[in-house]
Amino acid sequence: MKEKVRELIEKLAAEHSLTVSEYQTLIEERTDEAAELMAAEAVAVRKRIYGTDVYIRGLIEISNICKNDCYYCGIRRSNREVRRYRLTPEEILESAAAGSELGFRTIVLQGGEDPYFTDEVLAGLIGEIRKHCPDTAVTLSMGERGYASFKRLFDAGADRYLLRHETADEEHYGKLHPPEMSFEHRMKCLQELRGIGYQTGAGFMVGSPFQTTAHLAKDLKFIETFKPDMCGIGPFIPHHQTPFADREAGTLELTCYLLSVIRLIHPPVLLPATTALGTIDPAGREKGILAGANVVMPNLSPVGVRRQYELYDGKICTGEESAECLVCLKNRMRSIGYRIVEERGDIKNGCL
Ligand code: 5AD
Ligand code: FES
Repeated sequence: MKEKVRELIEKLAAEHSLTVSEYQTLIEERTDEAAELMAAEAVAVRKRIYGTDVYIRGLIEISNICKNDCYYCGIRRSNREVRRYRLTPEEILESAAAGSELGFRTIVLQGGEDPYFTDEVLAGLIGEIRKHCPDTAVTLSMGERGYASFKRLFDAGADRYLLRHETADEEHYGKLHPPEMSFEHRMKCLQELRGIGYQTGAGFMVGSPFQTTAHLAKDLKFIETFKPDMCGIGPFIPHHQTPFADREAGTLELTCYLLSVIRLIHPPVLLPATTALGTIDPAGREKGILAGANVVMPNLSPVGVRRQYELYDGKICTGEESAECLVCLKNRMRSIGYRIVEERGDIKNGCL
């Protein structure tokens, strides 16, 4: 490994900050040896804060109806081949109750931007979940909404909100999204969520079309300055019915490297080993945990609809990654020296 890279890793571990061009060097000049050192530092810092605990989130994909048309996404509105579904409030509440029974203490409601899920409908669902499972955190991942909407849902009891920024470079954002979507609005939403009091999640895809190392360096700087409570990163994986069907997927190697970097930038961050990582490699999620991640998000949606929430080709959804097979997941985590805990798993700020 180049001396310069070793120095940058040590600086990052000590100061949790680098310049954009240093981040770029860290990415461009990485070697297997650098990745090993980075992961060792990341795991050490993560163990100081979270021990060997891995938090679980029960993910309910409430609707694949979406008014958006992101070029990378399999459930974009222009994809006429998708069989669309929307769970009923009863189905959602049943899934949440089943998750609580299984030991989940965070429920994530994720969906496309489906106009059916008005503030009233969502607030009702959040209230019901809070009433029946008072010790369970509610996370929303429902896309961009207005300030008043975010506020109302927070007041209804939602604790966290996931909204990946997708890329911190405005021009790159424009190449991944249709003209009616704006980088500025995305960032505004993130600021509003934070201001309202949500534990706020950002994130991006690794290896998305047109992405350069300079873009990734900007993403890292954004993470450093915004300090999201959660950060979802996973490899881009093409979906055959999108404009990016023929693009290459992101790699396991770079995703794991960036997980380690992000852990060092913002030590207490809640960092999932994502489904996309588990999709490109059968042991992807374990590798993510070993790189510094500390969260996994098994699927709690009714089995009958899981295949329809296909953001990218081959998305794993009925095997060991699912919530029913928590025992398999527990064993997998135990086999690498970690343990799944039945806790809300809030961010431990101020631990370092
Ligand atoms: N590959 C990987 N991740 C994707 N997402 C959407 N489409 C893809 C894809 N083709 C991610 C986006 C979005 C999240 C819900 O899923 O980052 O924010
Ligand atoms: Fe934007 Fe699915 S259409 S992420």
